Amino acid sequence: MQKLIIQGGKPLHGEINISGAKNAALPVLCATLLTTDTLCIKNVPLLQDVTTMLSLLEQMGAEIITNNRSEVAEVELTVSNLVNPVVPYEMVKTMRAAILLLGPLLARTGEATISLPGGCAIGLRPVDQHIKGLQAMGAEISIKHGYIHAVAKQLRGARIVMDIVTVTGTENLMMAASLAKGTTILENAAREPEIIDLANCLIAMGAKISGAGSDVITIEGVKALHGTQHTVMPDRIETGTFLVAGVAAGGDVCLKNTFPHLLDAVLAKVQEAGADLETGDNWIRLKMNGRPKAINLRTAPYPAFPTDMQAQFMSMNCVATGTAVISETIFENRFMHVQELKRMSANIEVEGHTAIVYGIPELDGANVMATDLRASASLVIAGLVAQGETIIDRIYHLDRGYERIEEKLSEVGAQIRRGS
Ligand code: EPU
Repeated sequence: MQKLIIQGGKPLHGEINISGAKNAALPVLCATLLTTDTLCIKNVPLLQDVTTMLSLLEQMGAEIITNNRSEVAEVELTVSNLVNPVVPYEMVKTMRAAILLLGPLLARTGEATISLPGGCAIGLRPVDQHIKGLQAMGAEISIKHGYIHAVAKQLRGARIVMDIVTVTGTENLMMAASLAKGTTILENAAREPEIIDLANCLIAMGAKISGAGSDVITIEGVKALHGTQHTVMPDRIETGTFLVAGVAAGGDVCLKNTFPHLLDAVLAKVQEAGADLETGDNWIRLKMNGRPKAINLRTAPYPAFPTDMQAQFMSMNCVATGTAVISETIFENRFMHVQELKRMSANIEVEGHTAIVYGIPELDGANVMATDLRASASLVIAGLVAQGETIIDRIYHLDRGYERIEEKLSEVGAQIRRGS
């Protein structure tokens, strides 16, 4: 199994190019099922989750042309003949985002069979809101043998008040509603920038959507959607991860091809920790000297502080001056990195959904295990600031969501390499 081997203690200096966003690329790839025309998607990140989604779409009959197999920067997908509206357990268990195929499959073929995702490392993660929304639009849904089976001759527009703010739930319903008969109003919708990105793609395909980015989204169903070209937004979580790495390790890094306005809550915390920031339309430069200051944070839906950045800030807090209180309100089990950070001498106490991090001057390099995607990123940051060598095992989690992370970090001076 592949590992990352890091020699800590090197500040970061230089430029990093930010990739397209995983959580924007995945729903946009699913949207290709909504048309028989070709969708050309640019700025697609080369990630394991993207490869998994492409092979799922291929099994359903998608013709896929990538401009360069080793750098999936641009992908053209055409699903002129959808052959198999089934998403098997083997796929969903490796990538929960496969649930995003439910809405598009149902809207396109009137039927979808998709494995129920089940819990995962970070929490229970039910999909009841996806199901309730589709039922409100007229779908008949049964769950048998671990599979969701949905049937709807013609989805109908509906007013749906979501009980909980859900990102992929909002995306699934927005895609399904685009081809429904009549108008759908999604209330208590998620406001994440990835939802705006998907809405922009759907609108370019001929969908009639307004309000994406607010908590009420209105979708007027149309008879058919057509092909288009779409550029995936930059990855705000990859951007944030490298910013926090810079705060923890110190140095001067400039992140290119990213949008600072997507990261207001994160940038505020980075500055609070003591970093100097300069921003342009599509770049962020960070300068940091000395130990960071401990910062408190509480995760919540966008535009508040993202749960996908909690673990990385935890690592930074481990070496900060002072004590930080971190509350995780989105997922019930997203402190898996704590045990691993403790193996590196971190001083952390967990009480329910709250972690208290007592900053210490230095972490010790150690052998640690990646447990989920963002927990893995936090261990990379911890390794960058630790004394001596850190070896991170099970980095397949990292490869699901970070493109060439060790190359990008090496280019700015980190001593990090992949080994087995
Ligand atoms: N929830 C329900 N019922 C539902 C749907 C969600 O109770 O039907 C709960 C979840 O259990 C969770 C909360 O609602 O407690 C929010 O979950 P959400 O549905 O928003 O999460 P998601 O759509 O499954 C996306 C990202 C995650 C990110 C979360 C929160 C994608 C593909 N995934 O997941 O990304 O953490 O939103 O922002 O967009 C990651 O990239 O590492 C990652 C986990």
